Amino acid sequence: MRKLPPTGTIEIAPSILSADFNTLGDHIQNVAASINILHLDIMDGHFVPNISFGPVIIKKIRPHFDLFFDAHLMITDPRKYAPEFAKAGADGITFHIEAVDDPKEMIKILRDLGVSVGISLKPKTPVETLEPIIADVDMVLQMTVEPGFGGQKFMADSPQRCQAIRKMLRNDQRLQVDGGIHTKTAPIITQAGADTLVAGSAIFGQPDPAAEIAALIKNCLK
Ligand code: DX5
Ligand code: ZN
Repeated sequence: MRKLPPTGTIEIAPSILSADFNTLGDHIQNVAASINILHLDIMDGHFVPNISFGPVIIKKIRPHFDLFFDAHLMITDPRKYAPEFAKAGADGITFHIEAVDDPKEMIKILRDLGVSVGISLKPKTPVETLEPIIADVDMVLQMTVEPGFGGQKFMADSPQRCQAIRKMLRNDQRLQVDGGIHTKTAPIITQAGADTLVAGSAIFGQPDPAAEIAALIKNCLK
């Protein structure tokens, strides 16, 4: 099981949701040398109004890439399905705090599976809900759009939320953001404390995905 890269770096995590599934392997290969984390958006048509893909796809691509596979579970029952995602090759699993009654129990389930643990908040969920469990996770994922679809507009209050979460985190924990990240929003959100940026359409929607990743990082380091 791979570990999240140690903190102190800006990581770009491309979301394959925006890739062309007809040539998925080639798309990932095009960016593999530029990244450490690959973001896998799992949607069940219930927690969010869209359906994406499941463990079968992860299992198929797993042997071809030595990257940290970051499964973002936008599903109603992460408790039930987490073991299947770990078995398929996810190195880290992020669940939504809105989807579980007992986040502590969910964290324990993920620890027992040996995966890195992420917890995600939708844009309107109060950041204070993280207080009882934030010390126990490896990464917080603040959604910067309503989860469900790629290509949406970055929500304006996201930097404020990230600043608040960053204050609650230790410096060995990552703060990931997801949705509407491109060269203009990336520096704004890293200045607010995010260090792990998911981007779908800004990378896979473009003719030269590796150049887009380099541009994202460059803009954040300016
Ligand atoms: C949205 C997903 C995102 C999405 C991001 O629910 O969690 O990961 O793919 O797409 P862009 O970068 O296009 O906003
Ligand atoms: Zn995601």
